[in-house]
Amino acid sequence: MTLPDALTGLAPEWRFQARGHHARPLRADEVPLLQALYDANPLYFEVVSGRPAWPGEAQEAFDDRPPPEMPYRDQECLGLFGPDGTLVGVTIVVRDMMAPGVWHVALFLLATGLHGSGLARALYQALEDWAVQGGAQWMRLGVVVGNTRAEHFWAGRGFAPVRLREHILSSDRTNLLRVMVKPLAGQPVPAYLVLVPRDRPETDLP
Ligand SMILES: CC(C)(COP(=O)(O)OP(=O)(O)OC[C@H]1O[C@@H](n2cnc3c(N)ncnc32)[C@H](O)[C@@H]1OP(=O)(O)O)[C@@H](O)C(=O)NCCC(=O)NCCS
Repeated sequence: MTLPDALTGLAPEWRFQARGHHARPLRADEVPLLQALYDANPLYFEVVSGRPAWPGEAQEAFDDRPPPEMPYRDQECLGLFGPDGTLVGVTIVVRDMMAPGVWHVALFLLATGLHGSGLARALYQALEDWAVQGGAQWMRLGVVVGNTRAEHFWAGRGFAPVRLREHILSSDRTNLLRVMVKPLAGQPVPAYLVLVPRDRPETDLP
């Protein structure tokens, strides 16, 4: 295990930390750990797809990239690790998606036993601070309508809804996705919609 730097408190590969937990890129050989986390915490998968995680779910999340019509700079799948090095969550962050300065949270998931503890809020705040340091001006995400806990969580973090979109899953189920945006550099949401026409409420795209 790499030890944190005495001055910054961050080990070289750590992206951010909060409450003794840290985020670092998951390695390809750690995908089974992610699958085990999914299997032990089926709630999210039941809410969004009506069934627990399937055996290839973690690998799919690890390999998945935005579609060609959504250009981006890079993407990181970050494990969220507890003080003892246990994987307790995951977040997938896409940098400069569709426009410079737009960062996208493709997934943010914590073990169910940690929900309501304040850890998610602390870790998301640390993620956001890291993003701002990295040049993010907007944070974007899509939340499945009906994932009530997450809808409240993101609204509480200052995200504003910009449009609804249908999202077809490989399980043949279609979810309604609420695209949400948070300004990180003090600009109003209309400025974001100039930057990213795809997210305009009236834009009719597949
Ligand atoms: C989304 C997630 C990270 C939030 O972490 P958390 O610790 O559960 O969040 P919090 O407890 O701080 O906030 C949850 C909010 O939902 C509310 N809530 C919880 N259960 C609810 C319910 N059944 N109905 C309505 N509101 C509910 C809480 O009161 C809280 O609202 P508030 O901030 O206005 O007080 C966590 O729930 C999670 O990992 N979920 C599974 C993965 C997921 O859905 N990720 C988001 C999509 S990418």
